[in-house]
Order: sequence, then structure tokens, then C-alpha cells
Amino acid sequence: MSGTAQIGVTGLAVMGRNLARNFARNGYTVALHNRTAARTRELVEHFGDEGDFVATGSAEDFVAALERPRRLVIMVKAGEATDAVIGEFAPLLENGDVIIDGGNAHFEDTRRRERELRERGIHFVGTGISGGEEGALDGPSIMPGGSEESYASLGPMLEKISAKAKDGAPCVTHVGPDGAGHFVKMTHNGIEYADMQLIGEAYQLLRDVAGYSPARIADIFRTWNTGRLESYLIEITAEVLSHVDGATGKPFVDVVLDRAEQKGTGRWTVQIALDLGVPVSGIAEAVFARSVSGHADLRDASRHLAGPAARTLGEDEAAAFADRVEQALYASKIVAYTQGFHEIAAGSEQYGWNIDLGAVASIWRGGCIIRAAFLDRITGAYEARPRMVGLLADRGFAEEIAAAQDDWRTVVATAVTQGVPTPAFAAALAYYDSLRAERLPAALTQGQRDYFGAHTYRRTDRDGTFHTLWGGDRTEVES
Ligand code: 6PG
Repeated sequence: MSGTAQIGVTGLAVMGRNLARNFARNGYTVALHNRTAARTRELVEHFGDEGDFVATGSAEDFVAALERPRRLVIMVKAGEATDAVIGEFAPLLENGDVIIDGGNAHFEDTRRRERELRERGIHFVGTGISGGEEGALDGPSIMPGGSEESYASLGPMLEKISAKAKDGAPCVTHVGPDGAGHFVKMTHNGIEYADMQLIGEAYQLLRDVAGYSPARIADIFRTWNTGRLESYLIEITAEVLSHVDGATGKPFVDVVLDRAEQKGTGRWTVQIALDLGVPVSGIAEAVFARSVSGHADLRDASRHLAGPAARTLGEDEAAAFADRVEQALYASKIVAYTQGFHEIAAGSEQYGWNIDLGAVASIWRGGCIIRAAFLDRITGAYEARPRMVGLLADRGFAEEIAAAQDDWRTVVATAVTQGVPTPAFAAALAYYDSLRAERLPAALTQGQRDYFGAHTYRRTDRDGTFHTLWGGDRTEVES
């Protein structure tokens, strides 16, 4: 027997609930399921008038409520909970049915689940969903992986519920097979970490070097948000900085414990980048910065470690410095995205996903946490050169960085001189300088490796692999 619901959602915590409501608001009949029935009841009680819901109690009822081929979305905690839910539902499904995992799963888990379920005739679509609670309800950016066939049945629905970019394009694309969607979502989050850290460093510099109050910095971010840095993260930064704590009357940012937490997607981005050999130093510094912030034990050192004498700028100097920080932020942001896109290109190559980088940039233009005006430009750059690995290969971005570099260097130098930690700004600049350098000390590294381990080296002037007899007469032998 086939049910009437076009889609089902199991796991009705806030993300699942909002996604279910989004489907219903867009005219789909949505079957609902949750381990504790109270959540299902609450959803229908509070939002039942938003569309057609079919509340179900047991897994069997849930599956029976779905039309065929069945499409059921799992919105539970990534990891064991996801496997448990799949284990519960898969035996009730039939050939051609589709399970969609909308959590932040590790792409290797998604690859495994997709393989196992494929063997049983079930499509498994690991899907990145970005935009937080609000996005889930009003339109997220959606990054589905899985088979072409599953996208044919699912794509039109996802297009309907997704965010739309300013030009009206839906913020969803079939990213690629098996784990491609979750890989791209992971990298999105890595870039998100970098973006947030860079914004944090800009804030810290404006606070400690320019001597501005959080409210004044909020105004600066608002101004920046009308220019090339326009983005969701800049917008909410201004909101957070201008918020005053109700209990103390102090700036909210001054009463929040300065230890950043993480659920792990940024860390995965760096772990995988290490495996793929992709330099994501800006993203890595953002992950490490969260980790440093959390080490209260290490940070006890603040009591006895010396720094330079504090020097706050005068009013005119401060205003000029703020402009420089904008340049540094923009240039560093280009580097962070360059590194993220490089990782996607490398993952795509490694796993044979054939990911269209321009399409990824395009679906990040709306709905997701890193949505930004800047992504229009990235989309255009990849449309013009689909095989381009890093954004710095694009003439437009290269010119912008060239124009920003003097201020970028001044900002990093000032941070160093004044003892303000800016690991992501500095790493981004070092990455840029590494790409520009005609010669890197890697030649010396090769020499050292050959000296202590006979690891061999190649030469600039002829082909072949060589070793110098360091312990003997230092002649060179070809190996
Ligand atoms: C999104 C967010 C979302 C979530 C992150 C936060 O794209 O909507 O990235 O996935 O907020 O998990 O990550 P951390 O807890 O690791 O900061």
C-alpha cells in the first residue's frame, strides 16, 4: 500500500521541524516521525495550519504514509544515531526508495552508507544543509550527493524549498555521487570557521589597536556590509557587537566566556586536507584558534608572559587603520576561499566526483552561513575557467589582492608589533607570499632530507633523481 505523503521527516528537533514545515509550506504533504511522539504532536499543534502533515507514531506507520518511491529525510545527530535510524528504517523500505541524511555527517560515513544501501536497492543521499534554523525554515542552501537517479526524483522538491540567489537561481545542485554533498558541506563549514576567525581578528584589532568600543566596531561592520564584504556573517557580527547584556549593561561580547566551541566539521576539513595534501593554512589557523581559546590551562600564561607596551592609535590614525583592516580582511577572505575550493577540487579528483566548482559557488550565494556578495564573483570566475584550482588564478581577484597587499602587510605587521594575535590574517598572507615566491626554502629542506636520510632530490637543470654522498667526498650520484 502506498501513502500520500511526498516526503517524510524523522527527527523533529529544531532543524528537522523547520525543514518539515518548509516542505509543507511549499505545498508538499509531509509525513512526520520522531522517537518521542510528543515532538510530533507539538509540531502539528503549533504549525499544523501551515500545510499538510501526516503525523505518525511507529516506524512502520511512517513508512506506510509515504508515496512511492519513498523519500525520507533523517534529521538526527551525525554518527551512531544516524546509523541507528537507518538500521530501523532500511528493512521497511523497497527498491528505489530514497533516504536523505540532512545532518552534518562525515563524508566517509556517507560513502559507506551509500554503498551499503545501494546493495539493497535503496538510494542514500547525504545532503549538506546550511543556514541554521532560519534557513531550514525559509530556504537553506542544499548540497545533495548520491545518485543521479535519486536527484531526478528529489531535485525539484529541493529546488522549491531552497534559498534563491538574488538572480532567482535555487541554491541547490546535485553536487556529485555518494559523499560529495557532505564533503562540500564540510568544506563550507571549514570556510565558515575561517571567515568567522578573520572577522574576529578584525574586531580584535579595531578594539585593541584602534581603541574602538564594540558599538563603534558594529557601525564599522555595518558600513563594510554595504561594500564588497557584504555577507551574512558581517551582518550578524554587527548585531552581536551592538548587543548590550541585559543583566549588566555591558557589551554582550564582554560578558561571554571567550572559549569557542566546535562540533567538528572545521576540524574534519583540516584533517582531510592534510590527507589530500592541500594547504588550507587559513582554515587550519581558524580551527587552532578555537582550540587555543579553549585551553584555559595554557592561557593561564597571560598572567606572566610579557608583551609589548600597549599603544592605542589617535583618532585620525585609527580611522585610517580601520580602512586597512578592511583591506586585510578582504584579501585574507580571498585566500580562505581559495584554500576551500582547492580542497573541493582535490576531493573531487580523489573520489571521482566531478564537482562543478562554479555550481558550488553559485549555491552558496544564498541561504547558507557563508553567503556573500563576493560569491557572485567566484561563480563568475569559475564559469569563465571551470578548471581553475584557486581564485588567485583569476585576474580580477589577483588584482584586488595586489591592491590590498600594502595595507594587508601593514595590518599584520602592526598586529605583530603590538602583540595582537592574528593567526588567520598572517597565515593567509604567508600563503599568498608562498604562491608568489620564485624560490621557496623547500630546496634546502630537500638538501637536509638527502643529508640525513638519503631521501634524494631533483635538480632544476636536468631530469632524474639524485643523491649527494654527504658522508664521503660529496660527489653526486644519480639514483
Ligand atoms: C550551517 C552551519 C551549521 C552549524 C555548524 C556549526 O552551515 O548551517 O555550519 O552546520 O551551525 O555545525 O559548527 P560548529 O558548532 O562546529 O561551530
